[in-house]
Amino acid sequence: MNIAILPGDGIGPEIVAQAVRVLDALDLSFNTETALVGGAAYEAHGHPLPDATLKLAQDADAVLFGAVGDWKFDTLERSLRPEQAILGLRKHLQLFANFRPAICYPQLTHASSLKPELIGGLDILIVRELTGDIYFGQPRGRRESPDGAFKGHPEAFDTMRYSRPEIERIAHVAFQAARKRSSRVTSVDKANVLETFQFWRDVVTEVHADYPDVELDHMYVDNAAMQLVKAPKKFDVIVTGNMFGDILSDEAAMLTGSIGMLPSASLNSASRGLYEPSHGSAPDIAGKNLANPLATILSLAMMLRFSLNHAEAAMRVEAAVLKVLESGLRTADIWSEGTQRVGTQEMGSAVVAALIAA
Ligand code: IPM
Ligand code: MG
Repeated sequence: MNIAILPGDGIGPEIVAQAVRVLDALDLSFNTETALVGGAAYEAHGHPLPDATLKLAQDADAVLFGAVGDWKFDTLERSLRPEQAILGLRKHLQLFANFRPAICYPQLTHASSLKPELIGGLDILIVRELTGDIYFGQPRGRRESPDGAFKGHPEAFDTMRYSRPEIERIAHVAFQAARKRSSRVTSVDKANVLETFQFWRDVVTEVHADYPDVELDHMYVDNAAMQLVKAPKKFDVIVTGNMFGDILSDEAAMLTGSIGMLPSASLNSASRGLYEPSHGSAPDIAGKNLANPLATILSLAMMLRFSLNHAEAAMRVEAAVLKVLESGLRTADIWSEGTQRVGTQEMGSAVVAALIAA
């Protein structure tokens, strides 16, 4: 098995280094190869997703990804910005199914901005479609407005679109995931306004016929955003499109108090996948040994389970993380009175030590 390691920008290299230490400690004889991606690749090779990096990812069984992006690249033309690396990987590797769990660890209930009783025991899975929607829809661009009240003025436009097979496959993924949990799916759309999402609702409803044992309800995205802060525990699996999923997954992540704890997996139909923390590159704290490596370490666990067929090793990693939390060690983002504050490297060392001791 080959793992491509793509640390990226900002805190990416620091957190990925800790996950690699955990991987090494498992002693499972995988081949790993590291490559530049994002702004780091742009600076070295003039492109955020160089051909060699893309090829490494395409040939790998799984990709461990840190994060990309830094304000200093915000003025580059869009095709050269660091974000294009992750979008390009998703598209080229056909990683259409994005799993973003939002779990509130009992040790961290106080870290949420919501009342403990609202989020204690929270366990939601967001299944976000990742290769379609307005993110990738063509045509897009700038032009002179061809019609309407502002005809003749400069305008910009993007295209929201979903095909039947795209909706069907993500709906299947969500229903199957729900079967391993509480068997409830909420499909989030904007069917009251958008043609694309009326079609989404129709197709999800059709696919649901194959899953009579799973409960399905539909919710408009604005209401879903509200329900997530009002009564988040009512959700089990949320399935939605690329853009709504981007927004709702950040909201759900923050319910748990620390986005620094949440892993994610992006899979194709052959269960090859890219694994990355749900948080970004946090350039403001990069290189300061402040970042929380646990989301990346938990992403490694997801990789072991979903792409590398090592569920037992995945459980060992997750158990080690829980043990470290129970021992009271905290990075700055999850620190509170009475716990012991540690840096990125010390947190990695503690997980490795817990793993070896188990
Ligand atoms: C995410 C990020 C990306 C997205 C950016 C970096 C392109 O926000 O993974 O949620 O919008 O999908
Ligand atoms: Mg996002």
